[in-house]
Amino acid sequence: MFITLEGPDGSGKTKQIQPLANFLKENGFTVFTAREPGGTSIGDQVRTILMNLENTSMRQRTETLLFCAARAQLVEEVIRPHLDRGEVVLLDRYADSTMAYQGYGHQNDLTLIRNLLDFATGGLKPDLTLLLDLDPEVGLRRRQVGGDEWNRLDAYQLQYHQRVRHGYLQMAAAEPARWRVVDASQPPDMVQSRIQGVLLLYLSNLS
Ligand code: TYD
Repeated sequence: MFITLEGPDGSGKTKQIQPLANFLKENGFTVFTAREPGGTSIGDQVRTILMNLENTSMRQRTETLLFCAARAQLVEEVIRPHLDRGEVVLLDRYADSTMAYQGYGHQNDLTLIRNLLDFATGGLKPDLTLLLDLDPEVGLRRRQVGGDEWNRLDAYQLQYHQRVRHGYLQMAAAEPARWRVVDASQPPDMVQSRIQGVLLLYLSNLS
């Protein structure tokens, strides 16, 4: 089973992933988690380039290809082997992030980005995607107040982040069998119990 967490910056995905992994382990699953971009040695090196605030001259195509490059490595080196062993793979961001940020956010041709993602992932799609939905104004404030690392992508304008959120909601509406939308404006404990509720329902429908 391949599960991904998606959402705008500051939506709290990263805090939710470990409790979710623990919950799945308690339910008898072997769980592997990773975050994007990164999750492999090569991917972590690409991440450093992507996040570096000094890389102000980075072009949009370069940015898109670097995210895809890190993901191609992760899929072949890590995700597929874990899935082949029958484990649950739980990812903090995946291809939908590229659709949302580089596609909707930068207003690029969505079909081109989708084709690029198919190439990078070999067509591997998540079984279930949880969208932690949040107004980007709230999310970016959370990141600043929380003292989180401020990266090159956080520094894009608010309008850009609004387009990212809109893109996520559009993708979720277009493919409801895969996506579940969770309100991330609630306190973290409540968000976690909502996520676990979604998972329980999903698992009970499988059996
Ligand atoms: P990170 O510090 O991991 O933030 P978060 O906790 O919000 O995931 O930084 C990842 C940043 O990269 C984030 O701003 C989203 C962006 N991103 C893309 O623009 N495209 C992508 O394909 C991915 C995976 C991430």
